[in-house]
Amino acid sequence: MNQPLTDKNKILITSALPYINGVKHLGNLVGSMLPADLYARFQRLRGKEVLFICATDEHGTPAEIAALAQDKPVDVYCSEMHDLQKILGEGFLLSWDYFGRSSSKQNHQLTQYFHDKLTENGYIYEKTTKQVYSVADKRFLPDRYIEGTCPHCGYEKARGDQCENCTKVLDPTELLNPRSNLSGSNDLEIRETNHLFLKQSVCVDMLKEWINQKKQQEWPLLVTSIAEKWLNEGLIDRGITRDLSWGVPVNREGFEGKVFYVWFDAPIEYIAATKERADSLKLDETAWKKWWKTDAGADDVFYIQFMAKDNIPFHTVSFPITIFGANDNWKVVDYIKGFNWLTYYGGKFSTSSKRGIFMNQALELYGPDYWRWYLLSNIPEGSDSAFTWESFQSTINKDLADVLGNFINRTLKFCLTKFGDKVPVGSDRTALEFETQRVIIAKINDYFSYLESCNIRKATLELRSIWVAGNEYLQTAAPWTTIKENSEKAAMQMHFAINLIKLYAEISKPFIPQSAQTMDHIIIDAVDLSYIWTNLVSYDFSDVKSGFIFHIPNILFAKIDDEDIEKFSSNFGGGN
Ligand code: 2FM
Ligand code: ZN
Repeated sequence: MNQPLTDKNKILITSALPYINGVKHLGNLVGSMLPADLYARFQRLRGKEVLFICATDEHGTPAEIAALAQDKPVDVYCSEMHDLQKILGEGFLLSWDYFGRSSSKQNHQLTQYFHDKLTENGYIYEKTTKQVYSVADKRFLPDRYIEGTCPHCGYEKARGDQCENCTKVLDPTELLNPRSNLSGSNDLEIRETNHLFLKQSVCVDMLKEWINQKKQQEWPLLVTSIAEKWLNEGLIDRGITRDLSWGVPVNREGFEGKVFYVWFDAPIEYIAATKERADSLKLDETAWKKWWKTDAGADDVFYIQFMAKDNIPFHTVSFPITIFGANDNWKVVDYIKGFNWLTYYGGKFSTSSKRGIFMNQALELYGPDYWRWYLLSNIPEGSDSAFTWESFQSTINKDLADVLGNFINRTLKFCLTKFGDKVPVGSDRTALEFETQRVIIAKINDYFSYLESCNIRKATLELRSIWVAGNEYLQTAAPWTTIKENSEKAAMQMHFAINLIKLYAEISKPFIPQSAQTMDHIIIDAVDLSYIWTNLVSYDFSDVKSGFIFHIPNILFAKIDDEDIEKFSSNFGGGN
């Protein structure tokens, strides 16, 4: 379980692409983008060549509907929302190497290329289908343009493509009491029109075998079980075109005015965004192909995808069919890290009923590290987990303020008062320091292996316990008592504790990068501990030398008080 996922030197990381239609909530953030960032930061520190790609998912009816609601042309709306989502992601310190757009010309080209290849290889065929046409709106109503009652569970607001209540994938013609989402009209007709279908039905055995191999490679059970459930139910061929104007046009005679279905072009954007990056940096073709084409070096790449569980079918079934079916040396995912749901007090985060916290609101309240630490330590890794304001307060106050912040503060204040702002002499360490070193090194080894195996909860617990070890050291060493009898020994204890602060700055970087930087700057003189990520054995807790100058930063982690929590739970909707 704690085996490294890879020993390769090139790591390609993608997180599920956030839909363009509005600011994302914390559930979206913790289910894909944030853990992907954690892993990217860790692997960079390990000296790996990392490419971390994300983008906005801009096509489909949700984008059109959201643009319409704001009375904006859809391309203008998408461009504005892309910029906003980029700013917010950067606000959470997501270290993307590129944040692209699925509406880019590169994605248009690649999507059309995949269409051509899949057609050539017999995986795409044309079929006359029955679609819902709205007489009042004078147009077809694909996917979310139509609402009605779910034939499976009776939910009255099921959308044309999927029932939000029972998660069953639907065809718009299956809905009971259908109505147009544009005009509300129920003057609807079924009309015939041609569409393209992806031959998923012939891929079941091939995919079963692939998923089986992945089970041997210890893919998360969540991922393989969802994939198997789909495969065991048998795949039906999937319509990959729509009667819409916003999207990637279908490059085929008789398909004028139609576009590819958003779920066909969205994952292709992982590749296209890599090309967008190469183009924007004016790099040659190899710059993106080395990540994606096995005939251009991508065999040496470890490719990992991060996503929430609703995205798993598309990444274990439809996208692999696109990739395998093209049969043109494309890189297939090596590992999928899937997540359960983050709930808001056990219920759904909901954009429409303004329930929960959205990325912009979160950053207005607290800096990125509070959210990063809370979300990553409560990540819905093995099961769903619930956001509550009370647990947010308690995690931040206990872990960041009482454990980490307090250790740093106590050490620096004591040292400044007794020895001034230069790190004191640190000779003659005792058994206590050597034992603390041994314990901490063992814990860091575990911490690294949890990160290597992408066990995020365990990594969080381990990091916290390394911080706790610092407090325990201080408690046992009790320099405030030592100094009464032996000031040299107290100086040594301070020298040791200040070295721990520097160590904590280094190892906390993937989780709380901003605070880690502040902690790093506590010692004014330059000390580079980055070597410990690859060479921990040579570390001996003494890179911060006596005589180096330090300063005390402004409060690192202010506590969250009860009034704030009361206010937020009433403003954002709490447990009731
Ligand atoms: O569920 C979602 O938010 C989708 N926009 C994810 C797309 S992931 C990829 F395939 F593009
Ligand atoms: Zn349903």
